[in-house]
Amino acid sequence: MTEARARDSDWHLYRRLLRYVIPYWYLFALSIGGYVLYSLGNVLLADLMQFLLDSLNGAGQAAENGLVAGAAYALLDPGDMTPLEFARIGVPVAMVLLAFTRSMGYFAGNYFMNHVARNLVHELRRDLFNKMLLAPSSYYDHHSQGVLISKITFNVEQVTGAATKALRVVVGEGLTVIGLLSYLFYLNWRLSLIFMLVAPCIALVVSVVGKHFRRYSRRIQDSMGDVTQVSNESIGGYKEVRLFGGQQQQGDRFELASAYNRNQSLKLALVDALSTPVIQTMLAVALGAMVWFALSPDILSGFSAGSLVAFLTAAGLLGKPIRQVSSVQSVIQRGLAAAEDIFAQLDLENEPDTGTHTVQRARGDIAFEQLSFVYPGTDLEVLQDISFSIKAGEAVALVGRSGSGKSTLIQLLARFYPVQRGRITLDGVPIADYRLGNLRRQLAMVSQDVTLFNDTVFNNIAYGDLAGASREAVTAACESAHAMEFIDKLPAGLDTELGDDGSGLSGGQRQRLAIARAILKDAPVLILDEATSSLDNESEHRIQRALETIMQNRTSIVIAHRLSTVERADRIVVMDEGRIIASGSHTELLAEDGLYAQLYRQEFSD
Ligand SMILES: Nc1ncnc2c1ncn2[C@@H]1O[C@H](COP(=O)(O)OP(=O)(O)OP(=O)(O)O)[C@@H](O)[C@H]1O
Ligand SMILES: [Mg+2]
Repeated sequence: MTEARARDSDWHLYRRLLRYVIPYWYLFALSIGGYVLYSLGNVLLADLMQFLLDSLNGAGQAAENGLVAGAAYALLDPGDMTPLEFARIGVPVAMVLLAFTRSMGYFAGNYFMNHVARNLVHELRRDLFNKMLLAPSSYYDHHSQGVLISKITFNVEQVTGAATKALRVVVGEGLTVIGLLSYLFYLNWRLSLIFMLVAPCIALVVSVVGKHFRRYSRRIQDSMGDVTQVSNESIGGYKEVRLFGGQQQQGDRFELASAYNRNQSLKLALVDALSTPVIQTMLAVALGAMVWFALSPDILSGFSAGSLVAFLTAAGLLGKPIRQVSSVQSVIQRGLAAAEDIFAQLDLENEPDTGTHTVQRARGDIAFEQLSFVYPGTDLEVLQDISFSIKAGEAVALVGRSGSGKSTLIQLLARFYPVQRGRITLDGVPIADYRLGNLRRQLAMVSQDVTLFNDTVFNNIAYGDLAGASREAVTAACESAHAMEFIDKLPAGLDTELGDDGSGLSGGQRQRLAIARAILKDAPVLILDEATSSLDNESEHRIQRALETIMQNRTSIVIAHRLSTVERADRIVVMDEGRIIASGSHTELLAEDGLYAQLYRQEFSD
């Protein structure tokens, strides 16, 4: 990326972040107001030194003794008090008042800035999460779970750091720097110009350092994704890890990811720790030069002792805020790197949903027409020229070897991937023309790997659109899926809390909950992808019978490896390597003596 482009994209980044802040402009304004008071307090405390010192020397009067003195003389009548007597009252009162103002400013600045920052972070996090709810399947195919999780947890938190701490320091201390510099110019602009000479050097250091920070921050983020991914995998698959003796391997992978993270963090810390002293030294040189010039007889004559001390105090006071601003740069760059990544995610395409067609309840005529498909980012054609149709109410079984494309076909029907060549229609309307939510409402699916949520059994069945289903309906669905028999034995029946992804349930029990969920949905198209594969023969037959009743008035697509379960389908479609190689009834296919007959014989010779 060229320098100009980088700057340009940085501006985009700031502007985009600002857009999140705009709704809270009043809080932002309150906060800025607070910080203005805070920095004003700082500047005037330096000015107070002049009042104090000049009155000690018995020099001058009124406005010449500084801004605070000017105000004090204007507000209070000193009468015939000497400057020292007046200062004895004025300075302590001003000290307390200034400290109070400064504290109030600090409070308002900090508190309201936190409000703005926390809202910014909350909205970013929410937008990112909502984005993940709308992202297409290919997004999930190309990112590992751990990396995605770490974007929501770690990356967003990096923005929090920048938004809260860094913004506070930059605005609060930045205003103090501006205030002090203005005051210096007001006291003696010529002398202050010396200070301006080091400003470009400081700016250069800040900019070079910033670039390094950004680079390391990006790497730290990526490595956090890897750390999360390895942890996720090892926690989720702890049994495999142990059974196959994978501890060492997982440990090594974790070590690698974590060590990379440490190294990048250390590099960042090195630059961070170096940059502040470098800037400090530059400041010290500038200050030294300033003192040298200030003490030169020519200039000295223009200063009262008080204003010289005020000048040096203010110049000395500059050190701390500049150091603070420069030291939060690493936090800011981490935040910006994270914001960059978050915005890149937010800019990704959503699942396409441009169709407008809706139906209350589809009849359930499905047709696949010359359908071919390649998974995005791969080049294997996993479906080739698939054409067949299913009449409303028909039960079709899809059979074929593992990897022949059965599940892919179903995924396309549910529009998890856009159809590339050919088309799929439901009731004669291409599925792409349906509104996505409406299309999916027509499909009840039990997929090959069941997902359960960390919630009660009841809420797992009455999930999503089905939330609000009556207890009777849920119970009836569970009865049909033969799930009630084990649910009754759970500690709290339907109200038992399931763990992570239904841990604590057997494979067959999980499948039965998924079937109950699909039955409750009562959609015109029922899709069962290996829905009963984890059940024993007896349970499978019982559920099969229950499902047959349910299939009666709807279109159904059943995928099964165990051919005994698909014998009774109206039609059996045999797939091989992405193609349809035969279709017909069980007896017809056996008579043909093709792949189906071969698979069937294998099953029964076992
Ligand atoms: N998300 C994906 N990205 C890339 N390729 C995929 C993806 N999912 C599946 N495939 C590939 O597509 C082909 C068909 O897979 P599919 O899951 O449709 O097979 P299947 O017939 O359902 O097999 P099984 O009976 O084992 O479930 C396989 O070669 C598989 O490797
Ligand atoms: Mg499959």
